[in-house]
Amino acid sequence: MIDPERAAAQAEEGFARMWAELLPVGRHSRSGGYRRHAWTAADAECRAWFEEQARARGLAYEVDGNGNQWAWSADPAAGGAIVTGSHLDSVPDGGAFDGPLGVVSAFAALDLLRETGAAGSRPLGIVNFGDEEGARFGVACVGSRLMTGVLDADRARALTDDGGMSLAAAMEKAGRDPSALGRDEERLSKIAAFVELHVEQGRNLGDAPIGVASAIWPHGRWRFDFHGQANHAGTTRMEDRRDPMPAFAAAVLDARERALSAGALATFGKVAVEPNGTNAIPSRVTAWLDSRAADPAVLEALVAEITRASGAEVVRESYTPVVDFDGPLRDRLAGLLGGVPVLPTGAGHDAGILASAVPTAMLFVRNPTGVSHSPEEHAERPDCLAGVAALARVLEDLLADPVSPGPAR
Ligand code: GLV
Ligand code: MN
Ligand code: MN
Repeated sequence: MIDPERAAAQAEEGFARMWAELLPVGRHSRSGGYRRHAWTAADAECRAWFEEQARARGLAYEVDGNGNQWAWSADPAAGGAIVTGSHLDSVPDGGAFDGPLGVVSAFAALDLLRETGAAGSRPLGIVNFGDEEGARFGVACVGSRLMTGVLDADRARALTDDGGMSLAAAMEKAGRDPSALGRDEERLSKIAAFVELHVEQGRNLGDAPIGVASAIWPHGRWRFDFHGQANHAGTTRMEDRRDPMPAFAAAVLDARERALSAGALATFGKVAVEPNGTNAIPSRVTAWLDSRAADPAVLEALVAEITRASGAEVVRESYTPVVDFDGPLRDRLAGLLGGVPVLPTGAGHDAGILASAVPTAMLFVRNPTGVSHSPEEHAERPDCLAGVAALARVLEDLLADPVSPGPAR
Protein backbone atom coordinates (compact mmCIF):
# COMPACT_ATOMS: atom_id res chain seq x y z
CA MET A 1 0.00 0.00 0.00
CA ILE A 2 1.48 3.38 -1.01
CA ASP A 3 1.59 5.99 1.70
CA PRO A 4 1.74 9.41 -0.06
CA GLU A 5 2.81 11.18 3.13
CA ARG A 6 5.72 8.82 3.58
CA ALA A 7 6.68 9.27 -0.08
CA ALA A 8 6.61 13.08 0.31
CA ALA A 9 8.70 12.89 3.50
CA GLN A 10 11.26 10.72 1.72
CA ALA A 11 11.37 13.11 -1.23
CA GLU A 12 12.02 15.97 1.19
CA GLU A 13 14.79 14.05 2.89
CA GLY A 14 16.35 13.04 -0.43
CA PHE A 15 16.23 16.61 -1.71
CA ALA A 16 17.85 17.92 1.48
CA ARG A 17 20.63 15.33 1.30
CA MET A 18 21.45 16.02 -2.35
CA TRP A 19 21.30 19.79 -1.80
CA ALA A 20 23.69 19.57 1.14
CA GLU A 21 26.11 17.44 -0.88
CA LEU A 22 26.29 19.94 -3.73
CA LEU A 23 26.27 23.11 -1.62
CA PRO A 24 30.02 23.35 -0.89
CA VAL A 25 31.20 22.40 -4.40
CA GLY A 26 32.89 25.29 -6.20
CA ARG A 27 31.74 27.86 -3.65
CA HIS A 28 34.06 30.81 -3.32
CA SER A 29 35.00 31.43 0.30
CA ARG A 30 34.85 35.23 0.09
CA SER A 31 31.91 35.93 -2.21
CA GLY A 32 29.82 32.89 -1.26
CA GLY A 33 29.04 32.53 -4.98
CA TYR A 34 29.71 29.55 -7.21
CA ARG A 35 32.52 29.27 -9.75
CA ARG A 36 31.66 26.00 -11.44
CA HIS A 37 33.00 26.73 -14.89
CA ALA A 38 32.99 24.09 -17.60
CA TRP A 39 35.74 21.47 -17.48
CA THR A 40 37.35 22.83 -14.30
CA ALA A 41 37.96 20.94 -11.05
CA ALA A 42 34.69 22.27 -9.56
CA ASP A 43 32.78 21.11 -12.64
CA ALA A 44 34.45 17.68 -12.35
CA GLU A 45 33.24 17.45 -8.74
CA CYS A 46 29.69 18.27 -9.82
CA ARG A 47 29.92 15.68 -12.57
CA ALA A 48 31.24 13.05 -10.17
CA TRP A 49 28.28 13.82 -7.92
CA PHE A 50 25.88 13.30 -10.85
CA GLU A 51 27.45 9.95 -11.68
CA GLU A 52 27.19 8.88 -8.03
CA GLN A 53 23.48 9.77 -7.95
CA ALA A 54 22.89 7.75 -11.10
CA ARG A 55 24.78 4.70 -9.86
CA ALA A 56 23.25 4.82 -6.36
CA ARG A 57 19.81 4.50 -7.99
CA GLY A 58 20.84 1.70 -10.35
CA LEU A 59 20.38 3.98 -13.37
CA ALA A 60 22.35 3.37 -16.57
CA TYR A 61 24.98 6.11 -16.67
CA GLU A 62 26.67 7.50 -19.78
CA VAL A 63 28.38 10.61 -21.12
CA ASP A 64 27.52 11.51 -24.70
CA GLY A 65 30.02 12.68 -27.31
CA ASN A 66 29.28 16.31 -26.42
CA GLY A 67 30.12 15.86 -22.75
CA ASN A 68 26.51 15.82 -21.47
CA GLN A 69 25.83 13.35 -18.66
CA TRP A 70 22.82 11.01 -18.78
CA ALA A 71 21.17 8.65 -16.30
CA TRP A 72 18.48 6.28 -17.60
CA SER A 73 15.82 4.35 -15.73
CA ALA A 74 15.52 1.95 -18.70
CA ASP A 75 17.24 1.48 -22.05
CA PRO A 76 16.22 4.43 -24.28
CA ALA A 77 17.01 2.40 -27.43
CA ALA A 78 13.33 1.67 -28.09
CA GLY A 79 12.56 5.38 -28.19
CA GLY A 80 9.73 7.39 -26.62
CA ALA A 81 11.95 8.47 -23.72
CA ILE A 82 10.95 11.28 -21.38
CA VAL A 83 13.92 13.41 -20.28
CA THR A 84 14.32 15.94 -17.50
CA GLY A 85 17.33 17.76 -16.00
CA SER A 86 19.28 20.99 -16.34
CA HIS A 87 22.91 21.99 -15.75
CA LEU A 88 25.43 22.10 -12.89
CA ASP A 89 27.88 24.75 -14.12
CA SER A 90 27.58 28.39 -13.05
CA VAL A 91 28.28 31.97 -14.02
CA PRO A 92 31.14 33.68 -12.09
CA ASP A 93 29.87 33.93 -8.50
CA GLY A 94 26.50 32.46 -9.44
CA GLY A 95 23.80 31.27 -7.08
CA ALA A 96 23.16 27.76 -5.82
CA PHE A 97 19.85 27.26 -7.66
CA ASP A 98 20.42 28.20 -11.31
CA GLY A 99 20.86 24.74 -12.87
CA PRO A 100 21.36 22.49 -9.82
CA LEU A 101 17.72 22.96 -8.75
CA GLY A 102 16.65 21.26 -11.99
CA VAL A 103 19.09 18.36 -11.63
CA VAL A 104 18.44 17.73 -7.93
CA SER A 105 14.68 17.98 -8.53
CA ALA A 106 14.98 15.48 -11.38
CA PHE A 107 16.55 12.83 -9.13
CA ALA A 108 14.07 13.65 -6.32
CA ALA A 109 11.13 13.38 -8.73
CA LEU A 110 12.35 10.00 -9.95
CA ASP A 111 12.64 8.83 -6.33
CA LEU A 112 9.09 10.01 -5.71
CA LEU A 113 7.77 8.22 -8.80
CA ARG A 114 9.48 5.02 -7.76
CA GLU A 115 8.20 5.31 -4.19
CA THR A 116 4.63 5.76 -5.39
CA GLY A 117 4.93 3.06 -8.04
CA ALA A 118 4.31 5.60 -10.81
CA ALA A 119 7.62 5.38 -12.65
CA GLY A 120 6.27 2.89 -15.21
CA SER A 121 8.50 1.06 -17.66
CA ARG A 122 9.09 3.78 -20.27
CA PRO A 123 12.67 5.16 -20.16
CA LEU A 124 13.06 8.27 -18.03
CA GLY A 125 16.33 10.12 -18.59
CA ILE A 126 18.02 12.64 -16.32
CA VAL A 127 20.52 14.94 -18.01
CA ASN A 128 23.23 17.34 -16.91
CA PHE A 129 23.98 19.51 -19.95
CA GLY A 130 27.61 20.63 -20.10
CA ASP A 131 28.64 24.29 -20.10
CA GLU A 132 25.20 25.92 -20.04
CA GLU A 133 26.39 29.32 -18.86
CA GLY A 134 29.25 29.76 -21.29
CA ALA A 135 31.16 31.49 -18.50
CA ARG A 136 34.51 30.11 -19.59
CA PHE A 137 34.39 29.87 -23.40
CA GLY A 138 31.90 32.65 -24.17
CA VAL A 139 29.11 30.68 -25.85
CA ALA A 140 26.18 29.56 -23.67
CA CYS A 141 24.43 26.16 -23.80
CA VAL A 142 27.40 24.48 -25.50
CA GLY A 143 26.31 20.90 -24.64
CA SER A 144 22.76 21.31 -25.94
CA ARG A 145 23.81 23.44 -28.92
CA LEU A 146 26.27 20.75 -30.00
CA MET A 147 23.74 17.97 -29.47
CA THR A 148 21.20 19.72 -31.70
CA GLY A 149 23.79 20.90 -34.22
CA VAL A 150 23.05 24.58 -33.52
CA LEU A 151 26.75 25.06 -32.72
CA ASP A 152 29.28 23.81 -35.24
CA ALA A 153 31.71 21.27 -33.74
CA ASP A 154 34.82 22.88 -35.25
CA ARG A 155 33.81 26.29 -33.96
CA ALA A 156 33.19 24.83 -30.50
CA ARG A 157 36.56 23.07 -30.39
CA ALA A 158 38.32 26.34 -31.26
CA LEU A 159 36.60 28.49 -28.58
CA THR A 160 39.14 29.75 -26.06
CA ASP A 161 39.00 30.81 -22.44
CA ASP A 162 40.61 33.97 -21.03
CA GLY A 163 43.87 32.09 -20.54
CA GLY A 164 43.97 31.03 -24.21
CA MET A 165 43.07 27.37 -23.61
CA SER A 166 40.79 25.94 -26.28
CA LEU A 167 37.60 24.08 -25.44
CA ALA A 168 39.08 21.04 -27.18
CA ALA A 169 42.16 21.16 -24.94
CA ALA A 170 40.07 21.70 -21.81
CA MET A 171 37.87 18.71 -22.65
CA GLU A 172 40.91 16.56 -23.32
CA LYS A 173 42.42 17.61 -20.01
CA ALA A 174 39.17 16.54 -18.33
CA GLY A 175 39.39 13.13 -20.01
CA ARG A 176 36.87 13.72 -22.83
CA ASP A 177 37.48 13.20 -26.54
CA PRO A 178 36.72 16.48 -28.38
CA SER A 179 36.67 14.74 -31.77
CA ALA A 180 33.27 13.27 -30.82
CA LEU A 181 31.46 16.63 -30.76
CA GLY A 182 28.48 17.14 -33.07
CA ARG A 183 24.74 16.74 -33.66
CA ASP A 184 23.47 13.59 -31.95
CA GLU A 185 20.63 12.55 -34.24
CA GLU A 186 20.30 9.12 -32.75
CA ARG A 187 19.88 10.39 -29.19
CA LEU A 188 17.44 13.11 -30.24
CA SER A 189 15.31 10.57 -32.08
CA LYS A 190 14.82 8.59 -28.85
CA ILE A 191 13.41 11.53 -26.89
CA ALA A 192 9.63 12.02 -26.89
CA ALA A 193 9.74 15.08 -24.63
CA PHE A 194 12.14 17.16 -22.52
CA VAL A 195 11.07 19.07 -19.40
CA GLU A 196 13.52 21.38 -17.59
CA LEU A 197 12.72 22.66 -14.11
CA HIS A 198 14.51 25.92 -13.26
CA VAL A 199 14.47 28.59 -10.59
CA GLU A 200 12.60 31.63 -11.91
CA GLN A 201 15.08 34.42 -12.50
CA GLY A 202 12.75 37.32 -11.90
CA ARG A 203 9.88 37.96 -9.53
CA ASN A 204 7.14 37.15 -11.97
CA LEU A 205 5.41 34.26 -10.21
CA GLY A 206 3.98 36.41 -7.43
CA ASP A 207 1.81 34.25 -5.19
CA ALA A 208 2.36 31.06 -7.20
CA PRO A 209 5.18 28.69 -6.19
CA ILE A 210 5.26 27.08 -9.65
CA GLY A 211 4.82 28.29 -13.21
CA VAL A 212 5.21 27.07 -16.77
CA ALA A 213 7.30 28.80 -19.45
CA SER A 214 5.65 30.15 -22.57
CA ALA A 215 8.67 31.58 -24.40
CA ILE A 216 12.29 32.73 -24.18
CA TRP A 217 13.22 36.15 -25.48
CA PRO A 218 15.72 36.25 -28.32
CA HIS A 219 19.16 37.11 -26.97
CA GLY A 220 22.81 37.22 -27.89
CA ARG A 221 26.36 38.21 -27.02
CA TRP A 222 28.48 40.69 -28.95
CA ARG A 223 32.20 41.44 -28.53
CA PHE A 224 33.17 45.13 -28.75
CA ASP A 225 36.82 46.04 -29.35
CA PHE A 226 37.69 49.69 -28.71
CA HIS A 227 41.16 50.41 -30.10
CA GLY A 228 43.56 53.10 -28.87
CA GLN A 229 47.24 53.76 -28.29
CA ALA A 230 49.07 52.75 -25.13
CA ASN A 231 50.88 55.69 -23.62
CA HIS A 232 52.13 57.22 -20.38
CA ALA A 233 49.44 58.43 -17.96
CA GLY A 234 51.74 61.11 -16.54
CA THR A 235 53.22 62.64 -19.67
CA THR A 236 50.63 62.40 -22.44
CA ARG A 237 48.58 65.59 -22.71
CA MET A 238 44.84 65.00 -22.53
CA GLU A 239 44.30 66.38 -26.03
CA ASP A 240 46.98 64.08 -27.51
CA ARG A 241 45.59 60.82 -26.18
CA ARG A 242 44.03 58.00 -28.17
CA ASP A 243 42.32 56.50 -25.14
CA PRO A 244 39.68 53.80 -25.86
CA MET A 245 38.28 53.96 -22.33
CA PRO A 246 36.05 57.06 -22.78
CA ALA A 247 34.57 55.52 -25.95
CA PHE A 248 33.77 52.38 -23.97
CA ALA A 249 32.26 54.42 -21.13
CA ALA A 250 30.09 56.33 -23.61
CA ALA A 251 28.93 53.05 -25.16
CA VAL A 252 27.84 51.73 -21.75
CA LEU A 253 25.71 54.80 -21.10
CA ASP A 254 24.40 54.85 -24.65
CA ALA A 255 23.40 51.16 -24.50
CA ARG A 256 21.53 51.77 -21.27
CA GLU A 257 19.58 54.73 -22.66
CA ARG A 258 18.70 52.97 -25.91
CA ALA A 259 17.63 49.76 -24.14
CA LEU A 260 15.45 51.76 -21.74
CA SER A 261 13.67 53.53 -24.55
CA ALA A 262 13.26 50.31 -26.59
CA GLY A 263 11.84 48.34 -23.63
CA ALA A 264 14.76 45.93 -24.08
CA LEU A 265 17.83 44.87 -22.07
CA ALA A 266 21.50 45.70 -22.65
CA THR A 267 24.34 44.74 -20.32
CA PHE A 268 28.10 45.20 -20.51
CA GLY A 269 29.10 42.73 -17.77
CA LYS A 270 32.57 41.67 -18.82
CA VAL A 271 35.50 43.91 -19.72
CA ALA A 272 39.17 43.29 -20.50
CA VAL A 273 41.62 46.18 -20.60
CA GLU A 274 45.06 46.05 -22.18
CA PRO A 275 47.58 46.44 -20.72
CA ASN A 276 45.43 47.03 -17.59
CA GLY A 277 47.89 49.29 -15.78
CA THR A 278 46.87 52.17 -13.53
CA ASN A 279 49.48 54.49 -15.01
CA ALA A 280 49.05 53.50 -18.66
CA ILE A 281 46.50 54.70 -21.20
CA PRO A 282 44.95 51.48 -22.53
CA SER A 283 45.77 50.23 -26.01
CA ARG A 284 42.51 48.33 -26.13
CA VAL A 285 39.28 47.83 -24.23
CA THR A 286 37.31 44.71 -25.06
CA ALA A 287 33.81 44.45 -23.65
CA TRP A 288 30.98 41.99 -24.14
CA LEU A 289 27.41 43.16 -24.66
CA ASP A 290 24.55 40.86 -23.65
CA SER A 291 21.32 42.13 -25.16
CA ARG A 292 17.76 40.76 -25.13
CA ALA A 293 14.28 41.88 -26.14
CA ALA A 294 10.84 40.34 -26.53
CA ASP A 295 10.79 41.22 -30.22
CA PRO A 296 13.67 40.07 -32.48
CA ALA A 297 13.34 43.16 -34.68
CA VAL A 298 13.68 45.44 -31.66
CA LEU A 299 16.76 43.51 -30.54
CA GLU A 300 18.34 43.69 -33.97
CA ALA A 301 17.74 47.44 -34.28
CA LEU A 302 18.98 48.08 -30.74
CA VAL A 303 22.27 46.24 -31.22
CA ALA A 304 22.78 47.89 -34.62
CA GLU A 305 22.32 51.35 -33.04
CA ILE A 306 24.64 50.59 -30.11
CA THR A 307 27.23 49.23 -32.55
CA ARG A 308 27.05 52.25 -34.85
CA ALA A 309 27.24 54.78 -32.03
CA SER A 310 30.15 53.01 -30.31
CA GLY A 311 32.70 53.25 -33.13
CA ALA A 312 34.01 49.87 -31.94
CA GLU A 313 34.83 46.79 -33.97
CA VAL A 314 31.94 44.45 -33.18
CA VAL A 315 31.58 40.68 -33.62
CA ARG A 316 28.46 38.68 -32.76
CA GLU A 317 29.63 35.68 -30.73
CA SER A 318 26.30 33.93 -30.21
CA TYR A 319 22.60 34.41 -30.85
CA THR A 320 19.53 32.52 -29.73
CA PRO A 321 16.34 33.23 -31.67
CA VAL A 322 13.00 33.62 -29.92
CA VAL A 323 11.74 30.31 -28.50
CA ASP A 324 8.01 29.60 -28.30
CA PHE A 325 7.64 26.41 -26.31
CA ASP A 326 5.43 23.63 -27.71
CA GLY A 327 1.87 24.96 -27.25
CA PRO A 328 -0.01 21.70 -26.56
CA LEU A 329 2.70 20.50 -24.15
CA ARG A 330 2.77 23.85 -22.34
CA ASP A 331 -1.03 23.83 -21.97
CA ARG A 332 -1.01 20.22 -20.84
CA LEU A 333 1.50 20.99 -18.08
CA ALA A 334 -0.31 24.13 -16.93
CA GLY A 335 -3.58 22.18 -16.80
CA LEU A 336 -2.06 19.23 -14.96
CA LEU A 337 -0.70 21.59 -12.31
CA GLY A 338 -4.05 23.22 -11.73
CA GLY A 339 -3.80 26.26 -13.94
CA VAL A 340 -0.47 27.66 -12.80
CA PRO A 341 0.84 30.91 -14.38
CA VAL A 342 2.35 30.65 -17.87
CA LEU A 343 5.07 33.22 -18.42
CA PRO A 344 7.92 34.17 -20.76
CA THR A 345 11.50 34.71 -19.61
CA GLY A 346 14.51 36.69 -20.70
CA ALA A 347 16.90 33.99 -19.46
CA GLY A 348 18.44 31.43 -21.78
CA HIS A 349 18.14 27.69 -21.09
CA ASP A 350 19.13 24.35 -22.61
CA ALA A 351 15.37 23.79 -22.97
CA GLY A 352 15.33 26.70 -25.40
CA ILE A 353 17.91 24.93 -27.54
CA LEU A 354 16.28 21.47 -27.29
CA ALA A 355 12.96 23.02 -28.32
CA SER A 356 14.21 23.19 -31.91
CA ALA A 357 14.54 19.39 -31.98
CA VAL A 358 12.08 17.78 -29.54
CA PRO A 359 8.80 18.77 -27.79
CA THR A 360 10.06 20.77 -24.82
CA ALA A 361 8.60 22.50 -21.78
CA MET A 362 9.85 24.28 -18.67
CA LEU A 363 8.67 24.53 -15.08
CA PHE A 364 9.67 27.53 -12.97
CA VAL A 365 10.03 27.59 -9.18
CA ARG A 366 9.34 30.90 -7.44
CA ASN A 367 12.27 33.17 -6.63
CA PRO A 368 11.12 35.49 -3.82
CA THR A 369 13.63 38.26 -4.51
CA GLY A 370 14.02 37.73 -8.25
CA VAL A 371 17.80 37.94 -7.82
CA SER A 372 19.77 35.47 -9.97
CA HIS A 373 23.31 35.10 -11.36
CA SER A 374 24.33 36.24 -7.90
CA PRO A 375 25.24 34.61 -4.59
CA GLU A 376 21.95 36.06 -3.27
CA GLU A 377 19.83 33.89 -5.56
CA HIS A 378 17.30 31.97 -3.47
CA ALA A 379 14.21 29.77 -3.46
CA GLU A 380 12.37 28.70 -0.33
CA ARG A 381 12.52 24.99 0.47
CA PRO A 382 8.71 24.47 0.42
CA ASP A 383 8.66 25.97 -3.10
CA CYS A 384 11.50 23.67 -4.17
CA LEU A 385 9.54 20.68 -2.84
CA ALA A 386 6.42 21.91 -4.65
CA GLY A 387 8.65 21.95 -7.74
CA VAL A 388 9.67 18.31 -7.16
CA ALA A 389 6.02 17.28 -6.73
CA ALA A 390 5.01 19.22 -9.87
CA LEU A 391 7.84 17.70 -11.90
CA ALA A 392 6.92 14.20 -10.69
CA ARG A 393 3.28 14.82 -11.64
CA VAL A 394 4.28 15.99 -15.11
CA LEU A 395 6.71 13.13 -15.67
CA GLU A 396 4.16 10.56 -14.50
CA ASP A 397 1.66 11.93 -17.00
CA LEU A 398 4.17 12.01 -19.87
CA LEU A 399 5.49 8.54 -19.08
CA ALA A 400 1.94 7.18 -19.22
CA ASP A 401 1.05 9.05 -22.40
CA PRO A 402 3.97 10.67 -24.21
CA VAL A 403 3.67 13.52 -26.64
CA SER A 404 2.48 12.17 -29.95
CA PRO A 405 4.97 12.80 -32.73
CA GLY A 406 4.14 16.10 -34.36
CA PRO A 407 5.28 17.54 -37.68
CA ALA A 408 9.03 17.35 -38.37
CA ARG A 409 10.91 19.86 -36.26
C1 GLV B 1 21.67 31.99 -18.85
O1 GLV B 1 21.48 31.88 -17.68
C2 GLV B 1 21.47 33.26 -19.50
O2 GLV B 1 20.31 33.65 -19.70
O3 GLV B 1 22.45 33.96 -19.73
MN1 MN C 1 22.11 31.08 -15.66
MN1 MN D 1 20.31 27.98 -15.77
